[in-house]
Amino acid sequence: MNIDKTRMAELLRNDRYPRSDKYDPEWVLQGWMGPNVLWLTEWLCERMEFRPGMRVLDMGCGKALSSIFLAKEFGVEVWANDLWIPATENWQRVREVGLEDRVFPIHAEAHELPYADEFFDAIISLDSYQYYGTDDLYLGYFCKFVRPGGQLGIVVPGLMRDFDGPLPEHLTRIVADGKPFWEPECWCFHTADWWRQHWGKAGLVDVEVADVLPDGWKDWVQYEKACGEAGTLLFPSEEETLVEDAGRYLALVRVVARRQKDG
Ligand SMILES: C[S@@+](CC[C@H](N)C(=O)[O-])C[C@H]1O[C@@H](n2cnc3c(N)ncnc32)[C@H](O)[C@@H]1O
Repeated sequence: MNIDKTRMAELLRNDRYPRSDKYDPEWVLQGWMGPNVLWLTEWLCERMEFRPGMRVLDMGCGKALSSIFLAKEFGVEVWANDLWIPATENWQRVREVGLEDRVFPIHAEAHELPYADEFFDAIISLDSYQYYGTDDLYLGYFCKFVRPGGQLGIVVPGLMRDFDGPLPEHLTRIVADGKPFWEPECWCFHTADWWRQHWGKAGLVDVEVADVLPDGWKDWVQYEKACGEAGTLLFPSEEETLVEDAGRYLALVRVVARRQKDG
């Protein structure tokens, strides 16, 4: 690490996320995989119901920070499912925090999940669902893993509004690493209304929330800056584009839905 703990804590201080503030700042900075996943989880949990002992799937958990957060904050059991990060690496992280009885790392691809239907009381997914969940058919497959009446909640990078012409220049301009922010995979970014329709139209779930994090770009920038200073970014910082965009297009979108009782 390039900086000491006091500086790390200072860089991460954000009154909006009191629960996240309790976690070791070095651990949080080393967990970089995108926007601060503890903050995203804390925001998501404001609209989800957890009770101790519930079984929760954390889909695309990355380094399992959100799984650990959920187990600690709410006493739930979490299946920490990821593809890019090996289960053994996440198991190490789980053991380091002594949650072996509550967080279970699984390595599985989103279309070949090894779970029983209706096994989970709730499903969450942070900065991951956009990679596989924009397919019209995916929700029908995915929601069968949560019991009828159980909640599904995601936070994804998305859009404040759709483009009404060509992509804005600041999104396509070449930045730090010789590439533009907007790569072809960004076409999986959508507005909160798009997600509401996407999940609502199948008649499988009732959408309870589809909104954007107010001034979310500022929190996204804060974490990029902090990880940049700490030296934990794996890719060049997205700060420049986010600052120039200033919440005009780029957003963090939250969607919470409940599986219909007869769905
Ligand atoms: C940007 S990372 C975010 C990780 C973590 N949730 C976080 O916010 O720090 C996206 C995660 O989605 C997972 N993912 C992407 N495509 C997937 C797929 N097809 N099946 C399962 N997981 C997938 C990756 O393994 C990766 O860890």
